[in-house]
Amino acid sequence: METFVIRGGRRLEGTVTIDGAKNAILPILAACLLTDKEIVIGAVPELRDVYTIAEVLESLGVRVRTDLPGSLTVQADDVDRYAAPHDLVRRMRASFLVMGPLLTRFGQARIPLPGGCAIGSRPIDLHLKGFEAMGATVAVEQGYISATSRGRLHGNRIYLDIPSVGATENLMMAAVLAEGVTVIENAAEEPEVVDLANFLGSMGAQVHGAGTRVVRIDGVDQLGGTRYVAIPDRIEAGTFMVAAAISQGDVVVSNVIIDHLKPVVAKLREMGVEITEDSTSVRVTATGRPYPVDVKTLPYPGFPTDMQAQVMALLTVSSGTSVVTETVFENRFMHVDELCRMGAHIGVEGRSAIVRGVSVLSGAPVIATDLRAGAALVLAGLAAVGETELNGIQHIDRGYVHFERKLAGLGADIVRRQDALRGVAE
Ligand code: EPZ
Repeated sequence: METFVIRGGRRLEGTVTIDGAKNAILPILAACLLTDKEIVIGAVPELRDVYTIAEVLESLGVRVRTDLPGSLTVQADDVDRYAAPHDLVRRMRASFLVMGPLLTRFGQARIPLPGGCAIGSRPIDLHLKGFEAMGATVAVEQGYISATSRGRLHGNRIYLDIPSVGATENLMMAAVLAEGVTVIENAAEEPEVVDLANFLGSMGAQVHGAGTRVVRIDGVDQLGGTRYVAIPDRIEAGTFMVAAAISQGDVVVSNVIIDHLKPVVAKLREMGVEITEDSTSVRVTATGRPYPVDVKTLPYPGFPTDMQAQVMALLTVSSGTSVVTETVFENRFMHVDELCRMGAHIGVEGRSAIVRGVSVLSGAPVIATDLRAGAALVLAGLAAVGETELNGIQHIDRGYVHFERKLAGLGADIVRRQDALRGVAE
């Protein structure tokens, strides 16, 4: 059992470099199934979720090699299995993104139901309705989803009830090799969706309008190989921006795309945090407690749900009362109880959390329930008086590369501790 031990009170200073975006690289790796040609992905972050999707690809017969540090060479020229392993899909629900590529290239796919997670039930009905609209036969049996299509999928006009990121990505990938034109309406506009569209375009796909609510895909007969580098991770960047703010520090966050950070920059400025923008970096400076603000998470370009827990941690030490409303997931307040153990004053009313700022948090033993909740508790530990011991850091390793090393590089007092016995003793 590994834990982080954080001693708060240090001002963070210096420069931190952001890695490739987890939520861009996962669908991009799934999309490598769409061709038998070689693909090289650069600047791949060393994340547990990246290793998991690589294992899923290898379980299908895809060759995945690490030729150069930080890059992956992928070739799906010998795929002979179309069923993703149960344990891998349960470990990471994003494995479900292989369904669209398998179905459109091989006419079959069998994937375990991804199931829910700490933040919600995470249904996939929009994915399945879209596949059926394109001519697939979908059956759910014994905890598996089987999809088959006699001949090629055909294009169709698909309206998503919710601008789902995963459904937009899965259906976009299914459409690039389908017969004819597919139009996805009410599509997700996230930068990671746009990056996937650009990756598919570099393989020869015809995807138009990604980043808007209407995406049109003209199906082609086959796709070629490519070399590609994904966008930097806007959520990792936002997390370090909050780390600078909560520690009243002065940090340069480099390797960012400013445009992707707009909702986070706007909200932090509203809280009194000073942010100066360069072409590929932002400098974040804070002195004193942040102002209270209201936050409502929305699909992009609204305030990102993946930054909700982190900004709530900052609001716990604001000079007033804030309302944080989570509209994307139904259960994304698991970090509230843990923040309260550190002295925060937060009350949850349905989809909203009322955060009454306190002047100081106190270190405490806390548990990470999911990736972003874990990050938020680390941020709170940076500001807390005393020692915070965070369990469950395997969640953090899914989405942050060397999180504690990067924070320590900015002056934080944080170490990763191996507590083999503790796990047994308790
Ligand atoms: C992606 O998840 C991200 N994961 C999530 O990041 C992110 O929080 C989420 O998009 C929203 O931005 C990856 O990209 C790997 P959705 P996804 O489909 O695609 C409902 C992180 O921390 N819905 O946009 O699963 C769903 O229940 C992770 O990095 C349906 O009802 O999110 C949710 O309430 C967490 N039916 C809402 O839509 C469906 O068929 C948005 O989900 C699909 C989704």
